[in-house]
Amino acid sequence: MSAKIIDGKRLAAHLADSIKSEVLQWVTDGHRAPGLAVVIVGDDPASQVYVSKKIKMCEQVGISSSLHRFPAQLDQQELIGLIDQLNQDPKIDGILVQLPLPGAINEEQVTEHIDPSKDVDGLHPYNLGRLAAQSPLLRPCTPRGVMTLLESIDIALVGAHAVVVGASNLVGRPMALELLQARCTVTICHSRTQNLPQQVEQADILVVAVGKAGLIKGEWIKPGAVVIDVGTNRADGGRLVGDVEFDTARHRAAWITPVPGGVGPMTVITLMQNTLQAARNP
Ligand code: GUN
Repeated sequence: MSAKIIDGKRLAAHLADSIKSEVLQWVTDGHRAPGLAVVIVGDDPASQVYVSKKIKMCEQVGISSSLHRFPAQLDQQELIGLIDQLNQDPKIDGILVQLPLPGAINEEQVTEHIDPSKDVDGLHPYNLGRLAAQSPLLRPCTPRGVMTLLESIDIALVGAHAVVVGASNLVGRPMALELLQARCTVTICHSRTQNLPQQVEQADILVVAVGKAGLIKGEWIKPGAVVIDVGTNRADGGRLVGDVEFDTARHRAAWITPVPGGVGPMTVITLMQNTLQAARNP
């Protein structure tokens, strides 16, 4: 078997066109353009790349963006002060604080300070709680983007066994809630899971979000499975690779996402969808 590729880059480009039309219609209807504030602290190279992609995509779809850049030594109270200002600013519909934050800053306290109605990352406990309680409002970008990818291929989600590897607040946990909401049977694996290969072998749908190159071996994949690789790791020589051994997994899976060009572009485009959603429902 040779898996079909789930082309996130192409789907995101297609969605960018429709979001651009929706934003234009919103403005034509007499509203101001949606406004997104992006906050980055420190100089983590991967975060710099992600943030510049987010700002560029705002320009492409007609969302007005502002970038707030700070050195790694920023005091947490200063960051909270900025978030207070952005929470009060009527021109700002969405606030995104790029993660990870430097070690001296408490990510939980910062995230919880964002007004939930402007939390376009969907990471505030209120928004995570809404998702857990089956009435989602703003949904975390990467998991929502993965659901959009799964909906774009013709597979049954109801009753499928979904295995999520990775239990982070950013991806793994909300991913499991999304799949549960789609009526999959969901298993969550993490660093203390015993017999990871046996868990992965059960997966009709496998989502991996750990951040370890080649963690999931191709021979663990159930023949015919759908494999979604959220990992983005630098291999020797600088090449980007996922958490799944792509070259072996593609001979067992029915569908697989590439790295790069799979989940990454979906995270960015979902942020645009969430920002438009936040603008429509202040
Ligand atoms: N770092 C990596 N992915 C993300 C994301 O989706 N949102 C934020 N805020 N930080 C990230």
